[in-house]
Amino acid sequence: MKEKQRIGILTSGGDCPGLNAAIRGVVRASYNLFEPEIIGIADGYRGLIEGDYKEMHEDDFRGILTLGGTILGTSRRPYRAMRVIEEDNVDKVENMKKNYRKMGLDCLVTLGGNGTHKTANLLSEEGLNVIGLPKTIDNDIWATDITFGFHTAFEIGTDVIDRIHTTANSHGRVMVIEIMGNKAGWLSLYSGLGGGADVILLPEIPYDPDEVIKAVERRTKKSQRNFAIIVVAEGAFSKEEAKMKRKERLALRAQSNYPSVAYQVADLIVSQTGLDTRVVNPGHYLRGGSPSAYDRVLASQFGTYAAHLIHEENYGQTVAMINGKVGHNSLKEVAGKTKFVDPNCDLVRSALDLGISFGVKKVK
Ligand code: F6P
Repeated sequence: MKEKQRIGILTSGGDCPGLNAAIRGVVRASYNLFEPEIIGIADGYRGLIEGDYKEMHEDDFRGILTLGGTILGTSRRPYRAMRVIEEDNVDKVENMKKNYRKMGLDCLVTLGGNGTHKTANLLSEEGLNVIGLPKTIDNDIWATDITFGFHTAFEIGTDVIDRIHTTANSHGRVMVIEIMGNKAGWLSLYSGLGGGADVILLPEIPYDPDEVIKAVERRTKKSQRNFAIIVVAEGAFSKEEAKMKRKERLALRAQSNYPSVAYQVADLIVSQTGLDTRVVNPGHYLRGGSPSAYDRVLASQFGTYAAHLIHEENYGQTVAMINGKVGHNSLKEVAGKTKFVDPNCDLVRSALDLGISFGVKKVK
């Protein structure tokens, strides 16, 4: 290994709590293990494509453990467009390689979710030394038990449901709470369980509208004040919609008058039961603010592990929690896969035992 290692760091995709803690982990451990030179790349792959970066020093990374968001900035640069030359005539992949060389990097550390990992793998296959770190509130990255950011969002989601519970009870209302999670329902499942939801609708278990109504009626009859709490994942859909291709389904949704799925479910409830119903969508609130203590520790552990991978020159890997132990998987193995909720997993079984409905007669 060369005495000095030039490390480029970028954060890409939706932000989440714990990104700064992870960056700090990479930087601090690097200073401990070897002599690093750190280049902060602005706004994820945008900065790498456009050559927007700056040299950073140890002091730049102080006081950021508890800070939400990302000090490097982030943006969404879809993987599917990476190899497409658009109107600006920019060859994004070539530019990224060129800028990597221009910065004189020995390694690029990419902190991000599924899309980020796909591009990280592409760059690795193009010959760059890349190390990934799994962040997302969605917890849907393949082959890691958990991603940082998830725990904080799950705490916030649970708090939102708790607060909605008390007002639902006061007014005797059905409250439909939409929780982020476009493809995977982990955040809805955990927050719904944590907050004591009556119904949880997940993308992995397409719901039957009749069963949702039955569950709401069962619940409201049981409570003296006619209230029920429904948690709907952002990407949930009905059994009918499940027969369509994802693209068709999304196009149909876009044409409807519903701003999002929670409004569709609320409309169903009002039209079938006449119950007083409201929608709450915490949206980006779920991923804002300071990371939980758990996420600070997890992100720090992942960050320091990444520094060891750099030290060993073990590139083309992404850090992971594997059966409770910090380790790594190859970017190749992880890229392009999504970790979905298995309808037969223990957590879903436990929710069913608690009397929570998933809006179906039987979870298969
Ligand atoms: O990937 C995390 C996530 O929070 C998803 O749950 C959600 O679908 C998406 O980001 C929202 O993204 P944006 O910030 O682009 O609105």
